[in-house]
Amino acid sequence: MIFAANFKVNHTRVSTAAYMQALAGRMNEKKVEDRVLVFPPATALDAYKGDFTVGAQNAYPAISGAYTGEIGVMQLEEFNIKTVLIGHSERREILGESQEVIAEKFQFFLSRSFEIIYCIGEPLEVREQGDEAVAAYLLAQFEGIDTHGEKLIVAYEPIWAIGTGRSATVEEISSTHKMLKSHISAPLLYGGSVKPSNIQEIIGVDGVDGVLVGGASLEVDSFMALVTA
Ligand code: PGA
Repeated sequence: MIFAANFKVNHTRVSTAAYMQALAGRMNEKKVEDRVLVFPPATALDAYKGDFTVGAQNAYPAISGAYTGEIGVMQLEEFNIKTVLIGHSERREILGESQEVIAEKFQFFLSRSFEIIYCIGEPLEVREQGDEAVAAYLLAQFEGIDTHGEKLIVAYEPIWAIGTGRSATVEEISSTHKMLKSHISAPLLYGGSVKPSNIQEIIGVDGVDGVLVGGASLEVDSFMALVTA
């Protein structure tokens, strides 16, 4: 299983360092063999020690240059970071990233041998139209995306389930993952209000290879409860 923690705009450099140290210790203690990834905010990226992968929540598709407010490969390589999240719904919806921009980022980081966690997800009004509408919406998010890369992980995150406390049902996750798995061979994560109280049933769903977690990853105790579930 793959367990990924997305801090979003939470934690500071100091609290991230404490978190990473605690996580490394706890994982060692529990002899965790699953894959664990952590995406801290850009200001807290660093070369942390531990049996987990640190990735960037976002980066600009350039080595370096005149892109005010962004970070590029140069800033990631300083800490040996070779993993990036692309296509998160908050970047699509709040930051206005189009499929075209997302595909450009994807191609850029793929060509530089980055591991990519590529996120897709539908809004509530699409979910309410039924399975066919959901499939069409999600598959359109693969436009310009090479889904055959070896270092690709896909995360299905229904927008209406993110940060709302309302996760998708086991049936919704199961049917959506089944549909997606007929198009991609990459590991497929579920994300959206994953927490200690629903982790067992979610990772028990056929076609779920792991989870991408926001809120419930912010405390080490809570994230470890997921990892060791
Ligand atoms: P959540 O966020 O776990 O807080 O719902 C998930 C995500 O956006 O990756």
